[in-house]
Amino acid sequence: MQSHFKYQHGELCAENIPVAKLAAEFGTPLYVYSRSHLIRQYRALADAMKAVSPQIYFAIKSNSNLAVIRTLADQGAGADVVSGGELYRARKAGVAADRIVFAGVGKTVAEIDYALKEGIKFFTVESEAELQRISERAEQTGRTGRVAIRVNPDVDPKTHTYTSTGKAENKFGVDLLRAEKAYDIAARLPGLEVSGLHMHLGSPIMTPTPYVEALRKVRPMCEELKERMPTFKHLDIGGGLGIAYRYDQDPLDPRDFASAVLPLLHGLDLQVGMEPGRFITGNAGILVTRVEYIKPNPQKQFVVVDAAMNDLLRPPLYEAHHEIIPVVQSTERIYGDVVGPICESGDFMAQNRELPAVQQGDLLAVLSAGAYGFVMASNYNSRGRAAEVMVEADRMELVRARETWDDLLRGESIPKW
Ligand SMILES: Cc1ncc(COP(=O)(O)O)c(C=O)c1O
Repeated sequence: MQSHFKYQHGELCAENIPVAKLAAEFGTPLYVYSRSHLIRQYRALADAMKAVSPQIYFAIKSNSNLAVIRTLADQGAGADVVSGGELYRARKAGVAADRIVFAGVGKTVAEIDYALKEGIKFFTVESEAELQRISERAEQTGRTGRVAIRVNPDVDPKTHTYTSTGKAENKFGVDLLRAEKAYDIAARLPGLEVSGLHMHLGSPIMTPTPYVEALRKVRPMCEELKERMPTFKHLDIGGGLGIAYRYDQDPLDPRDFASAVLPLLHGLDLQVGMEPGRFITGNAGILVTRVEYIKPNPQKQFVVVDAAMNDLLRPPLYEAHHEIIPVVQSTERIYGDVVGPICESGDFMAQNRELPAVQQGDLLAVLSAGAYGFVMASNYNSRGRAAEVMVEADRMELVRARETWDDLLRGESIPKW
């Protein structure tokens, strides 16, 4: 699929806008999001799966900027949230409460109360203790807690151990055997209504095979539950669809995904839910950074840039690969690392690779930074978080201002004693 970040007359553009112009206007490090890419990815998935008219709950943990959420909500997306804060964001961005599902192993009483008050579609429940808690809170507040139990189908998604969630050893969901009992418990609890079944295998998943394997395991259970429980109407197959992070990598084509999983969804007569995050946002964003210094070492060059691990954590956290390209096209190459200014050897964006030959002051673009980029940013080393900009065709808009040093101190005080 064509990227929305490409060279026009030797200059990297975000849709039709030169990235250098964005950097000049908004400074660096800078996250740039393509609205057209977000919409295209959403549509590609919705169209591929249209035989089952899925409800797409955008996983806002991948990118929770209000402008991104609103763009997708305007296309019909709901939201998959994992905290009270995400629920608040989704609502502020205009997502209807009955299009929001709430996942996560540690929902607090306050978060459950808030979600019940808002009237979300359902909680995806991770344990028996959580069923109990939601039921109690629902009863006390005179509401009904709609629940889908997160089943852990024990399938290997063949991804990084930190982002693998559907194996028996992971903390997520309940295994198939326990799930049967959990459904019985849920059916007996007075504050609950059993809405459906949820699974999420991990990410990024590059083939449909793990989904097929998991659906084969959960389909009989769905059929049986549907018979027994009239309110059982939803099968949420989670997110995790992979994207290409490398030029030589084939992304998962939503049409291939659909032709593999649709046969397992046909005839079930359940509302199918999906929770893509990265698939929609990953390649919709780049991180633009300026070269501060070139530091030649005997073995390799260090390109020291103004973005750091506090801006993009994926390389040190997951050993993730991000392509890095120059904003002004060039063919010259050097060998080395792209590193940030943070006082950690783990502060790198690329290690031991061929890189564009850049000079002090040049701009680089770190690709595939739209998912799990800004949302994982921190203030480590007292660095303000980067600005975020959205573009569409010739339009651009600052959708989150760069943090100032005063922002860094907000809420802090020194004891009088
Ligand atoms: C329950 C759940 N749904 C959806 C997602 C989104 O995953 P991805 O962004 O890879 O699609 C995650 C990611 O952690 C998740 O935990």
